[in-house]
Amino acid sequence: MGLFRTKPIDVNANTGLKRCLGAFDLTMLGIGCIIGTGIFVLTGVVAAQHSGPAIVLSFILSGTACAFAALCYAELAGAIGGAGSAYGYAYCGIGELIAWIIGWDLILEYAIATSTVAIGWSGYFGKILELLGLHLPHALSNAPLDGGIANVPAMVIVLLLSVLLSIGVSESARFNTIMVFVKLTAVGIFIVVAAPHVNTANWHPFIPPQITDADGHSHFGYHGVLTGASLIFFAYIGFDAVSTAAEETIKPQRNLPIGIIASLVICTILYIVVSGILTGVVHYDKIDIMAPIADALKQIGIGWAEALISIGALAGITTVMLVLYFGLTRVVLAMSRDGLLPKPMARVNPKTQTPVRLILGSGVVIALIAGLSPIAKVAQLVNLGTLAAFFMVCASVIVLRKTRPQLKRPFRTPLVPLVPLLGMGFCAFLMAGLPAITWEAFFIWSALGLAIYFIYSHSHSQLAEQS
Ligand code: ALA
Repeated sequence: MGLFRTKPIDVNANTGLKRCLGAFDLTMLGIGCIIGTGIFVLTGVVAAQHSGPAIVLSFILSGTACAFAALCYAELAGAIGGAGSAYGYAYCGIGELIAWIIGWDLILEYAIATSTVAIGWSGYFGKILELLGLHLPHALSNAPLDGGIANVPAMVIVLLLSVLLSIGVSESARFNTIMVFVKLTAVGIFIVVAAPHVNTANWHPFIPPQITDADGHSHFGYHGVLTGASLIFFAYIGFDAVSTAAEETIKPQRNLPIGIIASLVICTILYIVVSGILTGVVHYDKIDIMAPIADALKQIGIGWAEALISIGALAGITTVMLVLYFGLTRVVLAMSRDGLLPKPMARVNPKTQTPVRLILGSGVVIALIAGLSPIAKVAQLVNLGTLAAFFMVCASVIVLRKTRPQLKRPFRTPLVPLVPLLGMGFCAFLMAGLPAITWEAFFIWSALGLAIYFIYSHSHSQLAEQS
C-alpha cells in the first residue's frame, strides 16, 4: 500500500527559503528555545514536590536522554537535513507512515508547547506589570475555563511573533540573539549573586523520604526523582528545533551538529548549576512553585534582583516561543510540500523568503489555543510527543546505518547501535514516568493523526502522485 515508501535525500536543496544561519546563530536558536519556563518556573514544582535537592539528579537523568538523542539528531541533521527535521529523516529512511506519525508528534510538541509557554509568558508579564504598580484584570489574563474571558497577553505575544517570523528569518535570529543574551545575563546574575548564600545543610536530605498525600499521590524518594526527571524534561525541549532550520542554514552538514550539541551542552551545565544553587539557598519545602528563581533571591534578601530575573525570564520565554513557533511552521511546511498536508500551505513568499501564509495561519491557531483553552492542564503532552519523536530519531539512526550505509555522514553518532539504543531506553523510561491522563490524551492525538493520514494524506502524498 506504499505505507513504507521513502523519499530521496537532498541536503542542499533550494527550497526558496533563505540560507543565512551559521553555527553561532543555530547555537543561539537552540539556547533560545531551551532555557525558558522549564528553569524559571518548573524547577519550583519539581524541587518542592517531587525531587527535593535531588532535582539535580532529575536534570542529569533527563539531560542524559537528551544527550543520546542529540547525538542521533546531529547525525541525521547533517546527513539528511530538511525543514521537517525528524519527520524528514524518517521519511527518507523508514517510510511514509512512520514519518507521518513523527511529524504529527512534532506538530503536537511545537504547537502545544508554544501555547503553554505563551501562558507562562503572560504570567511573567503580569508580574512585571505588578512590579510597575499596574494590574491586569483577571478577565483579560485568563481563559474562559479559568474564570476569565481570554488570556489577552498570551494571544498578543503570539501574534507579534508571527509578524516577526513573517518578516524574515535573519531578523528573527537577530532578535533571538539579543533576547538570549538578556536571559543568559539573568541566569548569570542568579548564579553569581546566589552562590555565596548556599547553605549545604539545605541539601540534606538530598533525596527526601517518600510521602503520600491526601490524593494518594506519592512524592520524593527515588520514585519522585524519576517523576521529576520526566517533568523537567520539558526544560530541555528545543535543541531539536535547531534541526528544523536546516534549509535556512549555511553549510548545514557542518553547522547543524554544532548548533544542536553546543546548545544542549551549555544549557545542561547551566541547569545543573542553577538547580543546585536554588536548593542550596532555599530549603526545598520553602521553594516558591510559581517563580522559584526570582523568589529565592527575595528570600535571601536580594530583592532588587527579582525585577531583573523577571525581565530575564520574560525575554527567555519569548525566545522559547519564537523558536518553537518557527519549528512548527517548518515541520508543517515540509509535510505540506510532500503533500501529506494541503499543498497551498507550503507557499513561500518570494519577497520575505518565509512561508508567510503558514506562519500567520498557525499563529492564529496558537493564539486561540493559548488565549481561550485550558491547555496548560495537558502541558505534559508536549513531553510525551517530544520523547516519542526522540525515540524514533534514535531508531532511525540504527535503521539508516543498515539500509543506507553509503550515505555521507559528516557527523557520526558514536558507538552505534549502543548510543541510539540507550537513547531509546532512556526516552521510554521517561515516557513511562508521565501520568496516565497524558497517555490518554496522547492516544487520542495519535488516533486523530492516523485517521487524517488514511483519509487524506496517503492519497495526496507527492510520492503517490509520482507512482
Ligand atoms: N525548554 C523550553 C522551556 O523550558 C520549552 O520553556
